[in-house]
Amino acid sequence: MSPRYGDYQLEIYLNGLGGVLPTLPMTFAELERRAEQALPPSIWSYVAGGAGDEHTQDANAAAFRRWGLYPRMFAGATERDLSVDLCGLRLPSPLLMAPVGVIGLCAQDGHGDLATARAAAATGVPMIASTLSVDPMEDVAAEFGGTPGLFQLYTPTDRELAASLVHRAEAAGYRGIVVTLDTWITSWRSRDLSTGNFPQLRGHCLANYTSDPVFRARLGKDPAQDPAAAVMLWAQLFGNPLTWDDLPWLRSLTDLPLIVKGICHPDDARRAADGGVDAIYCSNHGGRQANGGLPALDCLPDVAAATDLPVIFDSGVRSGADVVKALALGATAVAVGRPYAYGLALGGADGVVHVLRSLLAEADLLMAVNGYPTLADLTPGALKSCGLPR
Ligand SMILES: Cc1cc2nc3c(=O)[nH]c(=O)nc-3n(C[C@H](O)[C@H](O)[C@H](O)COP(=O)(O)O)c2cc1C
Repeated sequence: MSPRYGDYQLEIYLNGLGGVLPTLPMTFAELERRAEQALPPSIWSYVAGGAGDEHTQDANAAAFRRWGLYPRMFAGATERDLSVDLCGLRLPSPLLMAPVGVIGLCAQDGHGDLATARAAAATGVPMIASTLSVDPMEDVAAEFGGTPGLFQLYTPTDRELAASLVHRAEAAGYRGIVVTLDTWITSWRSRDLSTGNFPQLRGHCLANYTSDPVFRARLGKDPAQDPAAAVMLWAQLFGNPLTWDDLPWLRSLTDLPLIVKGICHPDDARRAADGGVDAIYCSNHGGRQANGGLPALDCLPDVAAATDLPVIFDSGVRSGADVVKALALGATAVAVGRPYAYGLALGGADGVVHVLRSLLAEADLLMAVNGYPTLADLTPGALKSCGLPR
């Protein structure tokens, strides 16, 4: 049985009785508005922006509005169980924090990876730590407390470096490797192009590389002595345009659960399953990469039906209602990206905790009100298409 997430509203109302009002936003729109004010313009536009005209990014969020949850009565859903099994982990809820490569820079103290890990410890919501971080993966893992964490791999072109990153993640106690497939090259990002801003090329968030023995050996000197050379080497090694022929090698790198991120087509899900992965991560990178206009949510049902593997979903999740809808459409677990980045910008680890608790409380209360006591009750039949225009 999971914690009573819905009780967060009680806490807020009781505080209100004592004259204490929430200082952090209660809606995504307000969260976004205030994060824009709190972040330096270059970080804001990097986080908030997407690919091309940002149609896919907008469509991701809008897609949830085309589905509605049937309210069911006489269900007596007084106790809800949101706990879930994922890749050998028993998690108290199906919520995850998606890997966000500049999360380190979103915190006012510049150590957002550590703050996010502390929020994971406080909430039981696992962090998927990005390869691109301000603090090395070992320091991030040290803040997880009892909450399991996953490591996201941007597979470098240098196989020895890839193996080194994976083996460091194993040694640091990460419980799974999430290989991101959709970002071996960066998409055309209008906002970043118009400000000429790409954080990694400015030397940000490269700690996992500069602390890596293989990377340092390739560089042949201390990265601190020649940061420009370290950035140039990073740029050469970063993106590996993987093919199916690389999957056996990736699989051979680790005995940890292997999860492939960016899968949107059922054929790719089946082929990945045949290649021995442990879970599928259905995502279009929040509309920052693939910009074909197809919302990730529209891909989810076919991807989920294609295999028996668990499916993690992200892209466009903005509320507890969205979490519930993604679960009903076939997701085993649901991740958020920008919402927790904005919470971090406003309130550090506490801001992330607030965002996560709000998402979980809303999902829990929706399941109570609409009569779905367990995640197993959330099937496609629980939803009705509202047919609203995109
Ligand atoms: C600023 C930013 C940086 C990101 N960095 C990474 C990353 O390093 N690795 C990765 O796999 N995905 C990355 N993503 C994609 C997220 O993991 C996730 O797919 C996306 O944010 C989900 O969409 P949402 O922001 O609409 O919730 C990033 C997303 C954002 C917004």
